[in-house]
Amino acid sequence: MSASFLQAPASFDPYAVRAEFPILSREVNGFALTYLDSAASAQKPACVINGLADQMRTSYANVHRGLHTMANECTEAFEGARQTVAGFLNTKSYEEIIFTSGATEAINLVASSIGADLREGDEIILSEMEHHSNIVPWHFLRERKGVVLKWVGVQDDGLLDMQSYTQAFSAKTRFVTLSHMSNVTGVMTDAKELVKIAHAHNVPILLDGSQAAVHGIVDVQELDVDFYAITGHKLYGPTGIGALYGKAKRLNALRPYQGGGEMIESVSKDKVLYGLPPYRFEAGTPPIVQAIGLGIALEWVMALDRQAVAEHEYNLMRQLTQALKKYNDVRIIGDTPAKGGVVSFDVQGMHAHDLAQLMDRYGVAVRAGNHCAEPLMQRFSATSTCRASFAAYNTVEDVNRFLEAFEKARKFLS
Ligand SMILES: Cc1ncc(COP(=O)(O)O)c(C=O)c1O
Repeated sequence: MSASFLQAPASFDPYAVRAEFPILSREVNGFALTYLDSAASAQKPACVINGLADQMRTSYANVHRGLHTMANECTEAFEGARQTVAGFLNTKSYEEIIFTSGATEAINLVASSIGADLREGDEIILSEMEHHSNIVPWHFLRERKGVVLKWVGVQDDGLLDMQSYTQAFSAKTRFVTLSHMSNVTGVMTDAKELVKIAHAHNVPILLDGSQAAVHGIVDVQELDVDFYAITGHKLYGPTGIGALYGKAKRLNALRPYQGGGEMIESVSKDKVLYGLPPYRFEAGTPPIVQAIGLGIALEWVMALDRQAVAEHEYNLMRQLTQALKKYNDVRIIGDTPAKGGVVSFDVQGMHAHDLAQLMDRYGVAVRAGNHCAEPLMQRFSATSTCRASFAAYNTVEDVNRFLEAFEKARKFLS
């Protein structure tokens, strides 16, 4: 991502995009809403909001195995959404996409399934940069199976320490699971290189793309990654839906995750034959409407000039970063050009929660806390940070309103 400050690229009009989000015209505490919390969850365009309602209003039934018209229509829409997710990530086949409730479930699915075959002393590589969703499922394996977690370090500028990564491999390494973009700092990892190194050791790798897939174009074939997790609500889609990409050969070798309807070939009193991927991993009634909503959201995202959106978000991030750097009591966590539209910072002597609450008085929504990434907080000796995160609908006015509110909050606190 390159930085050409302030001007949105000509092929992308953030104001036109903004107009598609009804919620962004509301006020909060008497001020125009300045929504800078999209890394936690993005707002929804009208096409997604209406699409969800339309589906339930016009054609709703349970999917698969149905013999009536609406069941078939709904199955078509649901499987169409799977095709859309496959197109979004450029998978070889739509059967490599498993619908999950989010990135959290996608990662739990992989950890639980591969974990069944791991033994005491086997090693899993992860990093200090991970969201708890990509830590706790692996802690389960540490607690339950005696698996050893090998932690890759993070440099002072927030980048993943590649030397620490290469040194983490041993003959006992069985799996690598790493973030593609930090939700705390916005720092990107060199995904292609991470995959290359893991494969040089014959180890499969999962990338947590919860943030990266929002701020850039992800091509799983080009990355050659084995598993890739995304979550719908950060991609302008509904909550309760996400997806796991798995290379066909990996999914074919993977144990089922949950048992129930839809995931079997046949069941008798003494035997069960599992269905093929992706259905083997989708036990029970799936999140039908949510998946269809995710499909609509991704079609909407893909209709934008995504490179231009990424540059726009990057420019806003750089503008805010430069403005905050003028305060010598502000520390930017993850200060490197290799990042997307997220700014995380702390201010000496001020609690991030106080700042966020005071800024909310002026309609500015930012997040404060540990961002579900305690190991990264520990790495930077921070208990919490304040985080502003950008999406396609943010504009330079949002940055200015943030700075005005920040200045007022500082004055109040100091
Ligand atoms: C980097 C990262 N990974 C995983 C998750 C978990 O996503 P979800 O809660 O939607 O499953 C998040 C959500 O904040 C995230 O930012």
